[in-house]
Amino acid sequence: MNETTLPLTIESDGTPITELIAGRRAEIRAALVEHGGVLFRGFDVGGVDGFDQVVRTLSGDPLTYTERSSPRSTIKGQVYTSTDYPPEEEIFLHNENSYQAAWPLTLYFYCITPPSSLGATPLADVRRVYREIDPAVREEFARRRWMVVRNFHPDFGTPWQHVFNTDDRDEIAAYGEKNGIKIEWFGKDGMRTTSVRDAIHFRPGSDEPRWFNHATFFHVSTLAKDLQEALLAMFGEEGLPTNTYYGDGGTIPADVMDHLRSVYRSASVRFDYHQDDVLVVDNMTAAHAREPFTGPRKIAVAMAEPYAPSTHQQEQ
Ligand SMILES: [Fe+2]
Repeated sequence: MNETTLPLTIESDGTPITELIAGRRAEIRAALVEHGGVLFRGFDVGGVDGFDQVVRTLSGDPLTYTERSSPRSTIKGQVYTSTDYPPEEEIFLHNENSYQAAWPLTLYFYCITPPSSLGATPLADVRRVYREIDPAVREEFARRRWMVVRNFHPDFGTPWQHVFNTDDRDEIAAYGEKNGIKIEWFGKDGMRTTSVRDAIHFRPGSDEPRWFNHATFFHVSTLAKDLQEALLAMFGEEGLPTNTYYGDGGTIPADVMDHLRSVYRSASVRFDYHQDDVLVVDNMTAAHAREPFTGPRKIAVAMAEPYAPSTHQQEQ
């Protein structure tokens, strides 16, 4: 199996970035799918408006961020901040929105202000992650699928009203019905969502399997030890803000979680951000993460090209 460069870097030759993309659009899109990521470096992007133009030239209209799992602020239109998460914490490798019924095929990161240290967006080719996972582990997830359980407690974390952009419970019930999410209410204003999804997916147009799920990212054991302990003490396992299981509700053994994390990490590559870098990620080919960082890091994010696997019916 040939390993490709991730990301492929395209350096400025003086051509304005949108002109370069418009002129080589088919070639760049093919490279993005093949490599999993393309980094545009050394261009005068022209701020958030210029970044928005890059997205529109390569992908079309950017998407509004829904069913969120992390705090983000809108910078302008459909351009958001990268997750507003404490700088000292790592954000583990994941494929954007792989816990949902639909997700963006293409992600964009734009470096407005580079961090002083670390703060990269590491990438991992999930075709390689798939190949390197023990076949017995893959087979178990293929057969049993995976389940994510999210609990929204009043006055803790992102409120469900914010996640679903409404405070209308009937509207949420209808959304859940349509998108394969079981909705339950508990206590005064607590909400639990449960979804069962496939762990392995194929990108449209490709027969190469990809490890594409949030089973590792959302599992309690992927959090920092002190955070795991604090959350378990506060809510108990059944009330954790997020946790994952096999699709039938069975516990995923600790050694399986350790194996999955180590495969992701060994497949992961990184580069330091330069100001005005634009990183384009093929969401079904590369997982992305965030290193801890120091300094003022400001990265804008946009998502495009929604995709829903039509042949797979979601079920509880
Ligand atoms: Fe992300």
